[in-house]
Order: sequence, then C-alpha cells, then structure tokens
Amino acid sequence: MRPVRRQIFSWVGGALLSGAAPRILRAAPTPIRIGLMLPASGTFAPLGKTIQQGLRLALTQSGGQWGKRPVEFVVVDDESNPAKAPEHASRLLSRDRSDLLVGSVHSGVALGMAKVARDNNKLLIIPNAGANALTAAGCTENIFRTSFSNWQTIVPLGKVMADRGVRTAAFITWKYTAGQEYSAGFKEGFEAHGGRVVADLSLPFPQVEFAPLLTQIAAVKPQAVSCFFSGAGAAKFLLDYAQSGLKDKIPLFVTGHATEGILQALNTEAEGVVSVLHYADGLPHRADQTFRKNFQAAHGAQPDVFAVQGFDTGLALAQALSKTKGETDAKALSASLEGMVFDSPRGRWVMSKAHNPIQDIYVREVKGKRNAYIGIAVKALEDPATGCTLGS
Ligand code: BEZ
Repeated sequence: MRPVRRQIFSWVGGALLSGAAPRILRAAPTPIRIGLMLPASGTFAPLGKTIQQGLRLALTQSGGQWGKRPVEFVVVDDESNPAKAPEHASRLLSRDRSDLLVGSVHSGVALGMAKVARDNNKLLIIPNAGANALTAAGCTENIFRTSFSNWQTIVPLGKVMADRGVRTAAFITWKYTAGQEYSAGFKEGFEAHGGRVVADLSLPFPQVEFAPLLTQIAAVKPQAVSCFFSGAGAAKFLLDYAQSGLKDKIPLFVTGHATEGILQALNTEAEGVVSVLHYADGLPHRADQTFRKNFQAAHGAQPDVFAVQGFDTGLALAQALSKTKGETDAKALSASLEGMVFDSPRGRWVMSKAHNPIQDIYVREVKGKRNAYIGIAVKALEDPATGCTLGS
C-alpha cells in the first residue's frame, strides 16, 4: 500500500515555525489542529491545491491565528478515493488529534468524511464537494458547506440555453455521485424551459477516453452539448471536443467547474464556452478585487473559484472561532456558524438553515484565459434542501 502523505504545518504570525527556541514569557495557547483532506494527486489535484492556497491566505491575513490560537493543518492527500475516506478521516481525528475536519473536493469522499464527523461529533466544513444530500436529507448540525450544492451550479443553465434558442442537448459526465446529480440537474433545468435531453452519456471516474462518446454525440446531432467535468479531466475533454471538430458545429454550455482553473493549460479550445457558476473573472465586487490582488501577491497566480471557496472556509473559521474565543467544541462552533453572512470575493452570501450558501449564480463566457463575467443567471439562489429539517 502506498504510504499516506501526511504533513503537519504550524503557523504563527503567518510564518512557518522555525526550530529556534522562543523566549516564552507566559504560557502560549495550544494550537488548533485542523485535519485537512484534499486531493494532491489525480484529476482533482489542481482543485485541492488552490483550495489550500485560499485557506492559507485567509489564515495569514488573520496573523496566523484564529480565536487567538495558532493553527496547525494536518494535511492528507485523499486521492479523490471514496473507499479510503472513512479511514483517512478517522485517523485525522484519533491518531492526529484534529479538533475539526475540512474537506474535500470529491462528493464521494465528502460523504465518507461526513459519516465520520457525525459519528465523532466533530465539526466538518466542506470547501468544495457538492453532493446534494450533504445539505438536504443528510444535513447535520455539525456539517457546513462553504462552496455550493451540485443542484445550484447546473439547474440555472437550462434558462440560459433556452434564452439562446437551444431546444435539444446531449449531456456527458463521469459516473459517480456528482456526475449523476449534474445530469439530473441539467435535465430538470433544461426541460423546465422547453428543452429535451437527447443523449445522456457517462464514463467511469476519472477516465478520459472520450472519443467513443463524442462519436455518439456526433451521430445524435443535438443543438448543444453540456457536461460536468473538472480539473485535469475537464481540460482533456475540452481539448478532445475541439480536436474532434465538434466545437465548430455544436456549442458547449456547461457548469463552470469545467472551465475553472484550466484555461492556462489550453490554447483556444475553450474559447466561447458559456457556463454558469457562483464565481467569474471580472466581478464588480470590491472584496474580489482585494482578494485577487492579495492572492496574486501570495501565490504568484490569479485565483479560481476553488481558491475562493478555500478563502471563504478560512473566513468562516476566523469568524466562528472568534465568537467561541478559540473553543473548538462542535456544538459551540456550529452555533456560531448558523446564519453567518460572508463578504466574499464571489459576492455577499448567507449560510442557509441547511448549512449551504445562498448565493448569486453568474453567467460566464470563456474569453482568452478568463471566465468573463456576463451577467447574473439567478440572484440569491438557495438549494431546495429537500428532507432537511434543521432550523425548522
Ligand atoms: C464533486 O465531486 O462534488 C465535485 C468535484 C469537482 C468539482 C465540483 C464538484
């Protein structure tokens, strides 16, 4: 078995602790330990990287402390492998004595983490994975999401496409929780506006052999194609779609996860692709302009939506731990996260009763290396959270 990459980082005043003995005048507060599960390998590795960069930026901006306590991250590469998630999460709590959990990107991994957080009564903050159940039928007092639900980031696409005269479409995705939810959400949004899904195709996660499915799409001849892919797999899909010649004949309308963080790796293969997402390049928010300047200075690159979600996770922890005065008990932290309001780079958003962001969903279009902001698809969109009874 491959050894798990497990690293511990301590931050004090925004700087990595050196070996030099400090002159201690009074007992220093014990560090808060955060078990951080993100992919550092595989197709979602770029997402894990920028989430962590956003999170670290938020901590640095708080002087390396939350709730007047220094913070340690115990970091595990979850490999986007749901089968290993319960073991990784349990070890972060028992062996590594983490006070709370943050993770992950892949819906299946987050579902595994949620079970461990529930069983151990620890706080879990999800900085990406959109599995609808996490903030619907499976919602829990001590589980919060700072990103989106899969429903939120695909259903608004149907109207965008219908408004442009699209009546038939094919959908293509990976066969796992998120892919299935994106396929269902696409159908719901598109059919509600008179559209018809003429092909619903999938391949196992994280495979990227798209050619046979592209041949099927060419045979069906839909007016448009939609998809859910992300990370390295999304870059490969956009490349293959353009190289197959389909891009010149059938336009792509996608959830913005497919065009985030990958445009630097492409030439013009994604040019003109229209998408919906809770972030865009060129948003008219002051918080975004400040964030982009600071992120560029800290990490030498422009941020993507995943970086924003990491940053907002840090904002959530900063506010919550300040209210609890550094106390990490799940009950106290959960109470302080209820109804929290964020002045985020993505715009103002509010934590719903089901613990998911109520947020604006934007229309974007790929222009050069940017997911350019075109307009608002839906203002303050709240996930239906079907089956969640929290707060009622
Ligand atoms: C998910 O598995 O929920 C997911 C992964 C990448 C981007 C968006 C959602």
